[in-house]
Amino acid sequence: MKTDLVGLMDKTPEYVKKIVEKGIEVKKNKENYFDALHRKSLLMFFEKPSTRTRLSFEVGMTQLGGHAIYFGRDSHIASGHEDLYDTAHVISRFADLIMARVYSHSTVEGLAKYASVPVINGLSDFEHPCQALADVMTIKEKKGTNVKVAFVGDGNNVAHSLMLACAMMGMKFSIATPREYAPDERVVKRAREFGEIVLTNSPEEAVENADVVYTDVWVSMGEEKEKEKRMRDFKGFQVNSGLMGKAKPDAIFMHCLPALKGYEVSKEVIEGPQSVVFDEAENRLHVQKAIMLDCLGL
Ligand code: CP
Ligand code: NVA
Repeated sequence: MKTDLVGLMDKTPEYVKKIVEKGIEVKKNKENYFDALHRKSLLMFFEKPSTRTRLSFEVGMTQLGGHAIYFGRDSHIASGHEDLYDTAHVISRFADLIMARVYSHSTVEGLAKYASVPVINGLSDFEHPCQALADVMTIKEKKGTNVKVAFVGDGNNVAHSLMLACAMMGMKFSIATPREYAPDERVVKRAREFGEIVLTNSPEEAVENADVVYTDVWVSMGEEKEKEKRMRDFKGFQVNSGLMGKAKPDAIFMHCLPALKGYEVSKEVIEGPQSVVFDEAENRLHVQKAIMLDCLGL
């Protein structure tokens, strides 16, 4: 059986804790892993734009002694000339690992099914597991694990994976969304197997006594047609200094980035002293090294 990371829905607290510990170890002793993936190749398949995911996987693979290949809109699968079945089989004859950023979660599931090499989800419309693993690593480093994490905004891919990761780490999790934008019930049900999850429509209620306040964009990639409606529906869900003032005084602010300043977060909060967004972004590099090593049984 190969080890994929399609999402955290089918992972366990043991997996999440193991990857976070390994991420912290790889960050501390970077040079011990310089040849760990010598001569290995990672195929990076992107249907959507990226800054952090591409950079962190490509740099990570280089630092581990391997090589990353960028596969974008010019591939046959992207232009509709080749199907997922053939593409997955062909990639498996060349690369040792696949990372995919896709519109539909079913595409990453299909890749994992047909490829004989491990597949890592670099964001789908349902989950963003690499982000959540970097996030709980960051929270552990900054605050420990006996914490309350509050997510304010859209019950989206980032919220789904973060909820699962926090619950599996033993962190309390509250999420405030407008009524129509609640997280998927299957995710909430799964997360509740491991920890306390509070759903509310009140940002103030969610952030009360929180150690971490987290938000993400109101319009995710692929949802551009809903932009106007979403901008109206999310009014009142901005993380600004007023809302931060209702969390613990030493609370940290997190965002997966990219951020739309002035919408889901004010400029003063994201660029202010409570913000840890760049430490969070850097941890993508470290935790994804841990994920790739784990996928390859190392
Ligand atoms: N957070 C994140 O995945 O960023 P990119 O879209 O830049 O990869
Ligand atoms: N929810 C956002 C996250 C981007 C990293 C999106 O899917 O576009």
